[in-house]
Amino acid sequence: MDILEAIKTRKSIRDFKPDPVPQELLEKILDIAIRAPSGVNKQPWEFAILSGSVLEKVKEKNVEMFHSGQKGQSFGSGIDRESAYRRRQVDLAKQLFGLMDIAREDKEKRIKWTERGFYYFNAPAAIFLLTDESLPLERVLLDIGAAMQTICLGALAHDLGTCIEGQGVMYQNVLREYGDIPANKQIITAIAIGYPNWSFPANDIETPRESLENITFWRGFD
Ligand SMILES: Cc1cc2nc3c(=O)[nH]c(=O)nc-3n(C[C@H](O)[C@H](O)[C@H](O)COP(=O)(O)O)c2cc1C
Repeated sequence: MDILEAIKTRKSIRDFKPDPVPQELLEKILDIAIRAPSGVNKQPWEFAILSGSVLEKVKEKNVEMFHSGQKGQSFGSGIDRESAYRRRQVDLAKQLFGLMDIAREDKEKRIKWTERGFYYFNAPAAIFLLTDESLPLERVLLDIGAAMQTICLGALAHDLGTCIEGQGVMYQNVLREYGDIPANKQIITAIAIGYPNWSFPANDIETPRESLENITFWRGFD
């Protein structure tokens, strides 16, 4: 797939077929993704890749924690309610709930939707992006973001879909205990990965982008 085509067609996938993703394929994707650039070439990324019974246990425990009212690590946006950022967040929720036919007041369906996130949208595998505890997050997040996007683009070359998921690392203790993620690694985010279920309504989503003229400051071009 052409690189521009890949960038254009990548989108978040929120339901997957049960078909497993072979370890060798995930290795290929990660091997390419670590070609991502990083400041001073420090390559601060590490990965935990969960699948099979290990991931199933994590899913189950996530949902258990959710229903027991455990707070977990916040993955909320902390965005000003009056801002354009908040408007885009609300628009996304409306778009997803519209596709899924979830009414604003339908508490039960909304809970089910949140559960789906804790199940990594039924993905057969999930990649957790880690960094060493010795590294300050503000010094590594740009680097890890580059690797994150490269994973998502690389996945497309193998007909795989992805959803980056802050929600997926909300219960860090679950990941450490059942995913055996070392205590000296910070857990940044999850990427659900698998073969997209294209008949799932939320996978029809096409998220808009702000027009370039509203977000650019061109100087010296006249
Ligand atoms: C850091 C980060 C965290 C995200 N966390 C979640 C999440 O917890 N749940 C979810 O459904 N999507 C999550 N997403 C996906 C975004 O909602 C999605 O990228 C955005 O709406 C743009 O849509 P697109 O990926 O389809 O282009 C996350 C994306 C990023 C980059």
